[in-house]
Amino acid sequence: MSYRVVQWATGNQGVEAIRAILDRPDMKLVGAKVYSADKAGVDAGVLAGREPCGVVATLDVDEILALSAHCVAYFPRLASLDEVCRILASGTNVVTTAFLFHPRSLPADDLARLEAACIRGGSSVHGTGLNPGNLSGVLPLALSGMSRTIEKITLQERADWSFYESTHITFENMRFGRAPEEVTEAASDFLRFNSGIFQEMVALLGRALGAGLDEITSSVELVTAETDHDIFGITLGAGTVSGQRWHWRGLRAGNMLIEIETLWTVGGEYPTHWPAPLDGWTLTLEGEPSIQAHLLTLMSYERPLPLAEHVRAASVATAMQAVNTIPALCAAPAGVQTMADLPLVRAGFGFGNVAPEPLLQIPG
Ligand SMILES: NC(=O)c1ccc[n+]([C@@H]2O[C@H](COP(=O)([O-])OP(=O)(O)OC[C@H]3O[C@@H](n4cnc5c(N)ncnc54)[C@H](OP(=O)(O)O)[C@@H]3O)[C@@H](O)[C@H]2O)c1
Repeated sequence: MSYRVVQWATGNQGVEAIRAILDRPDMKLVGAKVYSADKAGVDAGVLAGREPCGVVATLDVDEILALSAHCVAYFPRLASLDEVCRILASGTNVVTTAFLFHPRSLPADDLARLEAACIRGGSSVHGTGLNPGNLSGVLPLALSGMSRTIEKITLQERADWSFYESTHITFENMRFGRAPEEVTEAASDFLRFNSGIFQEMVALLGRALGAGLDEITSSVELVTAETDHDIFGITLGAGTVSGQRWHWRGLRAGNMLIEIETLWTVGGEYPTHWPAPLDGWTLTLEGEPSIQAHLLTLMSYERPLPLAEHVRAASVATAMQAVNTIPALCAAPAGVQTMADLPLVRAGFGFGNVAPEPLLQIPG
């Protein structure tokens, strides 16, 4: 008896998920959907740097749907609502790192389509990850359990994307290395989409904590590089965008109550006029009491490791938050399940092969 899981997309996050699914005694990898022709026909274990596991990666969506898996771990770099609705309507749950972090703030038609697909398939859908995900959803909600009053919640993310190997996401999706006028929500469907998923996190916190937000705003300040930089063989040219400082803010009657801020750079030129926090995430709940946590993911705080290893830590965290949600998602009622709806997600077998208590019911 185990959860039959399909890994959909095998990029940086996808291979971390495959390793976890293969290792977990309560999960079985039953399928792998890829986009690249050169990965099709390759064993999914091999794609994840493991021994062959007998699951051959496919480009064919129908082949995946015919597997009747309990859950698809949906990690593509461009997400499709149509595709997710199809998976849900076929009776398979979907956990995704790409979008749907707070589907209740989607346009009404999209939400209706998503909910109809869940009802048709008796399935549920959940978007999660690191940020968007745990640090902008699960953790602030968990910390708020210690609050009598909350005046403001802020999450500041500092990241140097120079180390993120998913260069398609960095240069094509996020448009680093382009002229500033190309790096706006108006100029790019993806930047608009990306801004939307962080606004969803603001909306999620606002609704879950009863903030009564009446407006959610987004803005970006861009900085350009002074010199050329080589990023995994791609040149980020002098004069092109090398820094994006985004703010997504939830307001009530003009007062900012919730803010997510990013201090993102590529190439290592850090703007002197930006705040200079530690790498990682600083989460602050101002109120009674005021609470602050700084978080950094590394592959070890004890073992000396090369930088390239530490860089994987964020991908591991993103993928694990999704994989570890699968048991709770499979047990949840059909429909949209946000981080505020599901029980606290735990590392199912983080310490080894001893099942966590209380045991969640595993479907047959
Ligand atoms: N929530 C979070 O905290 C968080 C953090 C990081 C990333 N993410 C998201 O997680 C997802 C995966 O990120 P990643 O770092 O694994 O990216 P990645 O390493 O760049 O991998 C991209 C994946 O997208 C697939 N792909 C290729 N062409 C595609 C197309 N036309 N449409 C859709 N997908 C296509 C690739 O397929 P193959 O399998 O054939 O290579 C690959 O699996 C992205 O949506 C990313 O934004 C979320």
